[in-house]
Amino acid sequence: MDSVFVCSWAPDDVLQALNSRFDVEHVNVFDTGPLPREEFDGRLAGKAGAMLLAAKVDADMLEAHASTLKVVANVAVGVDNIDVEAATRLGIQVTNTPGVLTDAVADMSMGLLLAAGRRIVESDRYTREGKFQGLSFPLFWGADLRGETLGIIGMGRIGQEVARRARGFGLRVVYNNRNRLASDREEDLGATYLSIDQLLGESRYVILLTPLTDETRHLIDADRLAMMRKDAFLINVSRGPVVHEQALIDALRGGRIAGAALDVYASEPRLTEGLVELDNVVLTPHIASGTVDTRHNMARCAASNLIAVLNGETAPNPVNLVSS
Ligand code: DGY
Repeated sequence: MDSVFVCSWAPDDVLQALNSRFDVEHVNVFDTGPLPREEFDGRLAGKAGAMLLAAKVDADMLEAHASTLKVVANVAVGVDNIDVEAATRLGIQVTNTPGVLTDAVADMSMGLLLAAGRRIVESDRYTREGKFQGLSFPLFWGADLRGETLGIIGMGRIGQEVARRARGFGLRVVYNNRNRLASDREEDLGATYLSIDQLLGESRYVILLTPLTDETRHLIDADRLAMMRKDAFLINVSRGPVVHEQALIDALRGGRIAGAALDVYASEPRLTEGLVELDNVVLTPHIASGTVDTRHNMARCAASNLIAVLNGETAPNPVNLVSS
């Protein structure tokens, strides 16, 4: 019987399915806190598969376990925590969980856009602090959506669902993606392709949904922030390092953009100094895919990838191409 290491929360049905097939070592890191690298590495020893979320799997670790490890099933769509290049070289299958979280993340993207634009969190704080003295005309004026432009950077599944939702709010949608969409898809979504610089110059709202790669690290830096409109809002639901966090803090502090909403951070869980003091930023703790159903489905999806690979079948959601 193969041994697997489940280093994540998983619902009972998933654990049962895995236990009936494999010798399972399970650590719910969301109870215990993240495992130190040595402990994580030690637990990978002799395992044919690993199912994990957020744990860093580097090239040294993959090399050390390459003789036994066949699959790393990430319980997430983003795989920047795993050295996929090394895995491919070593013939280790990496899988992720696309699809099951598309709606949840698209919903949260719109939620953050509204929270920033309409100053929902700031006004919640004000009300709780007992400052509400009755209806006041000039209180917490925010930004409209109808007629404004939303720029989406990263037009994969989630970006496209955000575009659909945005149209319902009367937003004009422009986008940038590594590969431009086919014209019939653009037409269906009502989305116009622009260069990143053009998009930043035109958009009142900018949502980042791009994966973290060498090309997208610090994609939004001081120069790009300077290209944004003074009344613009930046919403990041991709990965923290896509934004130069200090440059963003400077821009928010200096009023060079109107506001931001962040679900992800440059060095999670640490927040760059100065961020929490700002009123014009909404901060959430990496919960864009955090709905009851979505979290269950992500775990189920990762487990089905793990099971498929260890059964010698093609994984439903392969990230890399490995020869069998
Ligand atoms: C993902 O799927 O990449 C999320 O960020 C994890 O919740």
